[in-house]
Amino acid sequence: MPSSVVVGAQWGDEGKGKIIDMLTEKAHVVARFQGGNNAGHTVVTGGQEFIVHLIPSGILHTGKYCIIGNGVVVDPAGLLTEIEYLRQKGITVDASNLGVSDQAHLIFPYHRTLDKLKEAKIGAGKIGTTGRGIGPCYTDKAARVGIRFADLLDPETFRRKLQANIEEKNLIFSRIYDAPPLQFEPIYEEYLKYGEALEKLIINGPVVLNKAITDGKSVLFEGAQGTFLDIDHGTYPYVTSSNATSGGACAGTGVGPSRIDKVIGVVKAYTTRVGEGPFPTEFPPVLMEQIRTKGKEYGATTARPRRCGWFDAVLVRHSVILNGINEIAVTKLDVLDDSPRVNICTGYRFNGKVLETPPSNIEHWSKVEPIYEEHPGWLKDTSGCGCFEDLPPQARRYLKRLEELVGSKITIVSVGSKREQAFHV
Ligand code: GDP
Ligand code: IMO
Ligand code: MG
Repeated sequence: MPSSVVVGAQWGDEGKGKIIDMLTEKAHVVARFQGGNNAGHTVVTGGQEFIVHLIPSGILHTGKYCIIGNGVVVDPAGLLTEIEYLRQKGITVDASNLGVSDQAHLIFPYHRTLDKLKEAKIGAGKIGTTGRGIGPCYTDKAARVGIRFADLLDPETFRRKLQANIEEKNLIFSRIYDAPPLQFEPIYEEYLKYGEALEKLIINGPVVLNKAITDGKSVLFEGAQGTFLDIDHGTYPYVTSSNATSGGACAGTGVGPSRIDKVIGVVKAYTTRVGEGPFPTEFPPVLMEQIRTKGKEYGATTARPRRCGWFDAVLVRHSVILNGINEIAVTKLDVLDDSPRVNICTGYRFNGKVLETPPSNIEHWSKVEPIYEEHPGWLKDTSGCGCFEDLPPQARRYLKRLEELVGSKITIVSVGSKREQAFHV
């Protein structure tokens, strides 16, 4: 199997976890390349539900190696909790199947505190973050004051860097937020323990991953969040703080673009987003409640209700271009089974003009009016369909129309949360 990047092509929660789990069967290595434990990837198999935040969704398959890449920001307490959670559910997690890049940055308690303080201070215009400290950790990375796993394994370097950070953050807490200071020693001791507990898993990510490719292994690059939460290409500032688009896979793992063969975009058969920001095809309240209930649209990380809307082909068409998507996986088709009609947004109307790509000005993006194409619903249960031909004709026509509008072929369709409820087209 070729090496592929799997990205969310909307606003996250497209079902990447499920698709990665499905594709892992034929891959050797799965590498997460960005984000942190703001992500929540769900896999349902063998009557059990697994939700992972940091560890690649490929971990559920035996004999596969998973890597948390250098582009990921890691909360070590969260990682240890997740390892324990998987072990409790009977999954082996040790150095034989998980490696964490020594260049990955660490999330500290001051990042989580700052995340929450910033959001509270902004008030009504807040981003609606997950509160996991993601933005402040990436801020430190870009400001060149971040602390990486390699530092954690060297107690003196770690002491010096942590001291400088806590001094600076305590000034920010007291002078800007009127918040109490943090003590250095307890955090230092706590993190040294995390370093000891994780030491065996720490690897030189780029070296290990490139060697695997040289040895003929196929790699799945697992994206978190989605294209429109990307720091450069999303609905800025209502985005996360990393590159969730396919380009992030190279920087976030240290593998060059010439070594990657394919990009697979995951989309829901409709659209959802969590948190604030523009959402042109958002449903009115009654439909919102119906689809949210049927699709169980509650966040896998924060349990917040997800905002739901019609499929937005303007977004996904742009996503296909931004990510260089070769193939699309459509999930949650079954959630539309009871809808007498299904709409697809084909363009945006703004200031009397029709836009075929999203505007860069966020104020404009918030004000565009979606142009809909209405399709008859299929009003049949698709959750047992095992191939494209099993789908009702209206559902097939809907998928064919999506392909046409977004400019990429659909190669996987998912009709339920279970591992077996998906097929290649
Ligand atoms: P991710 O963050 O992209 O991995 O997606 P999440 O796991 O946050 O959200 C996707 C949700 O949809 C999870 O609860 C999945 O179990 C569920 N899911 C995935 N594919 C399907 C599908 O085809 N049909 C239904 N009904 N649920 C699905
Ligand atoms: P997965 O990988 C959906 C959203 C948050 C918020 C914004 C910024 O499961 O698809 P952050 O905590 O990252 O600073 O929050 O991004 N967000 C997600 N939405 N799925 C995710 O991940 C998300 N990760 C972050 O809700 O709007
Ligand atoms: Mg999710």
